[in-house]
Amino acid sequence: MPQPLAVADESDAFAVAVRAGLSQPRKIIPARFFYDHAGSELFEAITALPEYYPTRTEIGILTAHAAAIAAAIGPGRAVVEFGSGSSLKTPLLLRAIAPAAYVPVDISAAFLQAAAAALAADFPGLPVLPVAADFTGGFRLPAAVAALPRLGFFPGSTLGNMAPAGAVDLLRHFAAVLGDGAAMVIGLDLAPGPAKSVAMLEAAYDDAAGVTAAFNRNLLHRINRELGGTVRLDDFAHRALWNADLGRIEMHLVAVRDTRFEAAGMAFALRAGETIHTENSYKWTLAEARLLARASGWMPDAVWSDADGRFALHLWRRDDGGLQP
Ligand code: AVI
Repeated sequence: MPQPLAVADESDAFAVAVRAGLSQPRKIIPARFFYDHAGSELFEAITALPEYYPTRTEIGILTAHAAAIAAAIGPGRAVVEFGSGSSLKTPLLLRAIAPAAYVPVDISAAFLQAAAAALAADFPGLPVLPVAADFTGGFRLPAAVAALPRLGFFPGSTLGNMAPAGAVDLLRHFAAVLGDGAAMVIGLDLAPGPAKSVAMLEAAYDDAAGVTAAFNRNLLHRINRELGGTVRLDDFAHRALWNADLGRIEMHLVAVRDTRFEAAGMAFALRAGETIHTENSYKWTLAEARLLARASGWMPDAVWSDADGRFALHLWRRDDGGLQP
């Protein structure tokens, strides 16, 4: 069985990923490397773009359906947010459901403290119990929430950046962490259909102002900055396309001419038209999302959507393994 490579820190991890990902016939760089400081700021800017509908649509759903969401979930839960919220979404949920505690889980301790402090100021009396951890790995919930029923919160269609097998593993992990009687509110972007065109979806990942292109191309800047790279940035263009067979938006950096560069102590060459695949963003029909829940230890309970059928907010309950026929 192949052993994971030992990496000392994040910049080692980037070097290892670039060496491995650019050495194969179909070149890739994992999407998690988008999020250095510049990339995180570009992502924040993306969420405010007119073409990038998911963020404002999900906020609209939380606002419009707050009463129904509250009635379905009930008060007194410990809300465990996977990736702590810097956005408007967390206060909207907390205000709607009257929770007993809020547990943001985030790998970035600095970001976590800032987000937790802001939340605590807005919700006096609500215990805010941050956990600095990688939510994909093993971590413990604070003892103070041991006796409370839990509600997982995973907005933003963040799950979409994982391949289906990894998404199922992560959702199973959430079910195990949250425990018996848990529920989960998860935002998943909808696949194109009669009400949602492929053109609209592709525009969300290729905006007119070029912010998503800059977000994608930031990976090339990172290679030059952090790995002694000699990438000629003009040799690459941003491309976003809907892959209907696999149900996902793909982002690529496409070589517009034959190009060569060095990075992380290795030499690389791409032919004109060859791409570096940098991100998948899976989209689900409502039926696919229900199947996803069932495959990963959850029972679909309710779903709220916007009037234009762009985005869905799902409520799932942990499948506690009752007898099945
Ligand atoms: C973070 N994630 C859910 C975003 C998405 O829509 O897949 C990342 C993103 N990539 C390009 N635009 C936004």
